[in-house]
Amino acid sequence: MIAQSHAAGRSVGRTSAFALAALAVLHAHLVSSSPEDGEALSASPPMIRLVFSEPVEAGLSQIVVWSARDSLEIRVRADSTDARTLIGDLPHLAPAEYQVDWRVLSADGHPVEGSYRFTVRAPAGAPDTVPTLGPPAAHRPDTAGHAHAAGPNIAAGVSAVLRGLAMFTLVALAGWLVQMVALGGAAPRGAMRTALLLAALSTALLGAHFAAWLWHVTPGGRAPDLGAALGTGPGRVEALRVGLVFLALWAIGLARRPWIALTLALAAVLVSGATGHSAGISPRWSIPLKSLHLIAIAVWIGGVAWLAVAALDPAAFGASASRVSGMALGAVIVVGLTGVAQSALFLPDVPAVFGSAYGRLVLAKIAGLAGLVAFGAWNRRRLMPRLDESAGQAALRSSTRRELALMLAVSLVAGVLAYVPPPS
Ligand code: HEM
Repeated sequence: MIAQSHAAGRSVGRTSAFALAALAVLHAHLVSSSPEDGEALSASPPMIRLVFSEPVEAGLSQIVVWSARDSLEIRVRADSTDARTLIGDLPHLAPAEYQVDWRVLSADGHPVEGSYRFTVRAPAGAPDTVPTLGPPAAHRPDTAGHAHAAGPNIAAGVSAVLRGLAMFTLVALAGWLVQMVALGGAAPRGAMRTALLLAALSTALLGAHFAAWLWHVTPGGRAPDLGAALGTGPGRVEALRVGLVFLALWAIGLARRPWIALTLALAAVLVSGATGHSAGISPRWSIPLKSLHLIAIAVWIGGVAWLAVAALDPAAFGASASRVSGMALGAVIVVGLTGVAQSALFLPDVPAVFGSAYGRLVLAKIAGLAGLVAFGAWNRRRLMPRLDESAGQAALRSSTRRELALMLAVSLVAGVLAYVPPPS
């Protein structure tokens, strides 16, 4: 066991240039540490001090110190004067080589981990050999001196799928309520029931995503801690949007006020702009861009869902189709522009569009948008002129159902995108 007493402190040093060069993702990264990477100390250090490139959340962070014989998880606290710094007090360390494995939660809600080594030398006069650790593989394969996004793992995969489904139902709910509020008392019977179903699904899926995210970000060997999660920025945003959509469910199911539900659902959509990479990369630009992206998607998906499933009066079907088509035209332009602008902020250069997983997912979304534009053009040119006939209305309904399925597929790609680190 690592022995329990303290020795004198040391200043914060730089990690090796190699460690920073190896950094391949745009998340929080370690910029300096004490003891520093590769340092040989003449006495046991009193603490580990890690300084990151951006604020990190102590509650969901972990530092484990390994020796050849033992490992010890040390208590991590934030530095009260610098939100980017984590401190962990050390017991007395006997002369030996040590590896520090750290794991932190970045502002974008993704865990990042890495490791480095230092040595406590034998005291003067004693034989100069100390127990060493052997190759890094004995501890965590491929991580010594590196920092990288934790995962991918099952929790991240489950979270990504839940996120795509949750975002699809949330934007569909907001867009559906836009249609209901636009029609006021003329909204068809059954529209309230569909809104209730969408609100219940959004609440359940956003709640399930929150739970899966917590599982994903909780350091190994610990039980998920809701209190610690709520102490972090990403955790608070997750909880806030679950709360807002739950209130929208109440506004539909009990208060029966679609406009209150719409206000709450739009607030949940706007808040969603502050989750994921937008919270960590150029947030001043990317948060409003993502919120706008999501609001436009809501208007578009909600309108298409309205034509696909609402029990519309055949005499009013043409008017609904024209209203939805006009809204969709504006929305598609905003979706495309804000999607490309976010991608430009997150991707470092044009080759990264083709040469990284993140870039290829963006390309898949662009292909999805092209498919949706083709659907829109077909609907406007071929099907809308035939809406006087019931066969024309049925054809538009089935076309919008297929369009909705493609929108769900693109939203699932978006959920995965939010869990894939963009290249630096
Ligand atoms: C030109 C086409 C598009 C591009 C370039 C694009 C790009 C993006 C980017 C970069 C993000 C941020 C993801 C992150 O946090 O890393 C995003 C988010 C999102 N996009 Fe798009 N997008 C496009 C079209 C669409 C379409 C057509 C839909 C749906 C039908 C869609 C649905 C979403 C959703 C739901 C999110 C939120 C993901 C989340 O945070 O969970 N996007 N998009």
